[in-house]
Amino acid sequence: MSNVKWVLGVLILILFSVRCKKDQSESCNQPVETYSLELPTEPFDYSLSVPDHIQGDPLFALLLDNQPSDNIQDNDVTTLGRVLFYDTRLSTTNDVACASCHFQENAFSFPSEFSEGIDGFVTDRSSMALVNLRWNRRFFWDLRENRLEDQVLVPIQHPGEMGSDLASLVDELAEIDDYSSLFDAAFGTAEVNEERIAKSLSQFLRALYSFDSRYDQGVENDFSDYSEEELAGKNLFFSGVARCNNCHTPQLFSSSSAMNNGLEIESIDLGQYLATGEETDIGEFKVPTLRNIAVTAPYMHDGRFQTLEEVVQFYNTDIQPHQNLNDRITEETMMGGTPVQLGLSEEDVSNLVAFLHTLNDDEFLTSEKFSNPFN
Ligand code: HEC
Ligand code: HEC
Repeated sequence: MSNVKWVLGVLILILFSVRCKKDQSESCNQPVETYSLELPTEPFDYSLSVPDHIQGDPLFALLLDNQPSDNIQDNDVTTLGRVLFYDTRLSTTNDVACASCHFQENAFSFPSEFSEGIDGFVTDRSSMALVNLRWNRRFFWDLRENRLEDQVLVPIQHPGEMGSDLASLVDELAEIDDYSSLFDAAFGTAEVNEERIAKSLSQFLRALYSFDSRYDQGVENDFSDYSEEELAGKNLFFSGVARCNNCHTPQLFSSSSAMNNGLEIESIDLGQYLATGEETDIGEFKVPTLRNIAVTAPYMHDGRFQTLEEVVQFYNTDIQPHQNLNDRITEETMMGGTPVQLGLSEEDVSNLVAFLHTLNDDEFLTSEKFSNPFN
């Protein structure tokens, strides 16, 4: 470093510390968590709103709505769930919330391969987007959980993710005035308990509907505002050539079963096998939704691909043989068969990517009702 730069650096440091001593502004102190909540007087409306083209789709009608009869959507319960989702006090070190690994602008995924829990713990899989979970049968990359009400308690108690003990957490939340009013509004009494925490968090997750992308508008208006590239990409996506829709099935652009898509010959992460112990489940993972996919990089369970171009190129030329390679991407349409070569041109690849971008739902990614209520 040159002398001039060094002297300048010292000067700036001195100036900064003098300014700090003078006005004692907050930014000079260690950050103190204040947990100031900002909620609308009337709760936001989180009730189910599914547009006609989705509701009317026979494929959608086949999906299971996983809302249980003892946890019916209610705006006050969902509001409580939103607050809990963003509250770092759910972790034992008070610095990790669900939202620390699930960012709204990334469709509630995390913009890096792995995410960080408490005390520097790093997850061994990529954080997942949280989109339209109300119609998912099973959760996590290996599909090991069946009910959202059970799933939401897993990260809270995970020793590395949030590290909390549920009984102590219940006691801690019961001491906080904001929560007394929120639990009261949601459940009729201020009592905090595990079941109420689980119910409200899962209601918030169920309320994360995303059906307002340019694709959805296109279904309604015959894709009149699609560019030529986007139209060509859409046609490819749904063609027997690219095969994408065989597994990323509309309207959720996902599947309810786990599959192997040929990322590697020998699975490093055994996937669904870890949950079931079945040989035929080795290397099989949840087929993730492609809604909002342009903002959820990096891609795959281990975040190995940084861009959508890389992903499409992988399907085009690089699918690996695997004992459980899904029959939809084999030459013989046989599990574990020879990987297909899609034979897409460079233009096809970029058209497909252009189409994938139309699955973004900007309202979902920015809506205040899903945003951080603490300021
Ligand atoms: C330290 C980071 C981290 C924290 C904190 C965290 N998650 Fe996650 N979340 C992940 C990762 C990583 C996965 C994928 C894990 C796997 O498949 O093994 C995941 C998966 C999920 C899934 C499954 C989605 C699907 O499509 O199957 C849900 C739901 C979820 N998280 C909700 C939550 C909630 C609710 C909280 C807070 C109570 C939370 N997460 C806290 C990192 C985190
Ligand atoms: C045989 C079923 C199948 C087909 C066909 C298929 N996929 Fe996938 N896709 C999967 C599975 C399974 C995963 C998750 C794999 C993993 O992480 O181990 C995945 C993951 C992805 C991801 C990463 C998602 C994320 O959240 O990380 C993208 C993007 C994607 N696929 C796009 C496509 C496109 C585009 C096509 C068509 C060219 C396609 N897929 C065809 C099964 C399939």
